[in-house]
Amino acid sequence: MRGTDVKLPVWIGTSWKMTKTIAEARAYIEHIATAELPAGIQPFVIPAHTSLAAARDALPAESPVLLGAQNAHWGPEGAGTGEVSMRMVGDAGARLVEIGHSERRQHHAETDETVALKARAAVDAGLMPLICVGEPVDVHEAGEAIEFVSSQVRAALGRLSSTEVSGVLIAYEPIWAIGEHGRPATPTEVAPVVSELARVAREVSGGVGCRALLYGGSVDEANAADLLLDANTDGLFVGRAAWTPEGFLRLAAIAAEAAGVP
Ligand code: PGA
Repeated sequence: MRGTDVKLPVWIGTSWKMTKTIAEARAYIEHIATAELPAGIQPFVIPAHTSLAAARDALPAESPVLLGAQNAHWGPEGAGTGEVSMRMVGDAGARLVEIGHSERRQHHAETDETVALKARAAVDAGLMPLICVGEPVDVHEAGEAIEFVSSQVRAALGRLSSTEVSGVLIAYEPIWAIGEHGRPATPTEVAPVVSELARVAREVSGGVGCRALLYGGSVDEANAADLLLDANTDGLFVGRAAWTPEGFLRLAAIAAEAAGVP
């Protein structure tokens, strides 16, 4: 269990990335909705846009699970073929929106500037931004991860007021740790980076800090508890290991254990 000064709840969430049909999404949500989720955690699930509304409809009103979108455009509406707006994903059931995942930065022209525009638009639409940052392997090997991700975070928060920053979620997801070819970062690698991000978030929020700081990248049932030992890590953002409802529930139990709420 973590120390007594840790922030609660412990966040535990998954992005389904480019998986699941509407029927598969519904079955997953129905499965986790029938389980009793433990106290002390804030669960969240981020479906693909196509199944967001179905996930919302399958989720009982009293469920603590927050739904999110994997991306949305910063513009309010108009000529944006293939895009959806913040208002549209909110309408489909999203309460939070993932912004700046490295897969989008690498393959879909996401930049620090578009991340900042999207964070602004998310807040304007009443959505909680979940801003993802993370360094590539060469930056990690050069020992420059802290500078790299701090700069990403400062840029991402650049269009928000200090009060708005206190509502933001930040996920530290080193690129070399993500996906089937990634290797999970060790708690020793994560701790100094997350500690610095917590400091940056406090600085730009007038001392309050962001809402929660998460770690993501090859999180699984074997490493989750150790990654949550760090007092600055308020939760975990999971891909593959939570793509089944059983996996999600097992990780939720580990997060609850870390939260230490009886
Ligand atoms: P992974 O994905 O857990 O499958 O490595 C993590 C992420 O991209 O957030």
